[in-house]
Amino acid sequence: MYLDKSDEKVLAGEFGETRRKMMEILVALGEVYEAESFIPITSAQVSGASYKTIGKWGLAWLQSLDARVAVPTVLNPIGMPRDTWREFGIRDEFAHNQTQVIEAYRRLGIRLECTCTPYYLNITEYGNHLAWSESSAVAYANSVLGARTNREGGPSALAAAIIGKTPYYGLHIVTNRRPQVVVEVEGGTGPRADHWGAIGHIAGKKVGNRIPLLEGIRPNRDQLKALGAAMAATGAVALFHVEGITPEARVFSFKTDGLERVTVTGDEVEALFEETDVEAVAVGCPHCSADELRELADLLRGKMTTKPFYIFAARGVAERNSDLVAAIERSGARVIPDTCMVVSPRMDEFASIMVDSGKALAYVPGMCGALARIGTRKECVEVATG
Ligand code: F3S
Repeated sequence: MYLDKSDEKVLAGEFGETRRKMMEILVALGEVYEAESFIPITSAQVSGASYKTIGKWGLAWLQSLDARVAVPTVLNPIGMPRDTWREFGIRDEFAHNQTQVIEAYRRLGIRLECTCTPYYLNITEYGNHLAWSESSAVAYANSVLGARTNREGGPSALAAAIIGKTPYYGLHIVTNRRPQVVVEVEGGTGPRADHWGAIGHIAGKKVGNRIPLLEGIRPNRDQLKALGAAMAATGAVALFHVEGITPEARVFSFKTDGLERVTVTGDEVEALFEETDVEAVAVGCPHCSADELRELADLLRGKMTTKPFYIFAARGVAERNSDLVAAIERSGARVIPDTCMVVSPRMDEFASIMVDSGKALAYVPGMCGALARIGTRKECVEVATG
């Protein structure tokens, strides 16, 4: 792998031990994937931010680092809202440990926007090279924005943030971004037929880690977000194309002759929806957009919640839409920034949770130890207020 003179000095430890270690991580990664060089990045998004997922060893590693990030960098959701953790039901000991994680990241110069939707904060655009690590954010950046990032682990995203470069391989290279499988979505007729999280949940299982081209659908941006997040969770999809919709599917005319074709049927989608009792309802996986907050405010108008109803969104999005947050919270529902239904220990206290997300449906059982039920956003509101 080609290193320029300044890379070599970093690797020799001339710019400190932390930068040396970070360069070592990137060089090792580049060698594994046979990268010939580095590519400069414009931003990074670092996962491994919740104390629930990194624990005391992760915290100790972060506290041992001494450097500043070289590019704008944000965090994945942490385990609690930064300021209202007590009201959210987080225990003192967890809050203490989580606060130390946040402080360790703050010292590295990372913006304390803790979200899986950093694209709502306008830190990337078409063609940018990135080092992002949260799987749904990676799928959105590659597919919906046409930016370029591999699915980084937390340490490799942090290393790239500190060095300002990442190994040039995988999805950074245009020729690796062609579709590898075609997905036909057979629309059903019921009210759940266009539930994009459910469609993605099924499609991800069928395509695995390949790059799919989806045909016969016209999702909007929020729906693409739900679709990609679910495919990234049940498969390992880091890039997908939608015929006539996503930027690269419009720019390049992909040849699909000879590719395997798989189908997502309306019956498969409908079969995901089981009507069981739940203790709590959670939406915002990935974090809600302003339009999704508006839809929830409309659905909740004149209603009161009868069970805990949590709506997760990026702090910046919630602050810019404080009127919608106030309208939602008049119902008793809570809009929670910085964290989410999967990485917060608060959600571990429920035995069953209703979600509107194909990704959360896949992750809640393993990460929270709870039964998960999926519904449309309207159904989630009905159950939360019924
Ligand atoms: Fe985001 Fe948490 Fe879902 S990180 S994509 S809300 S599991």
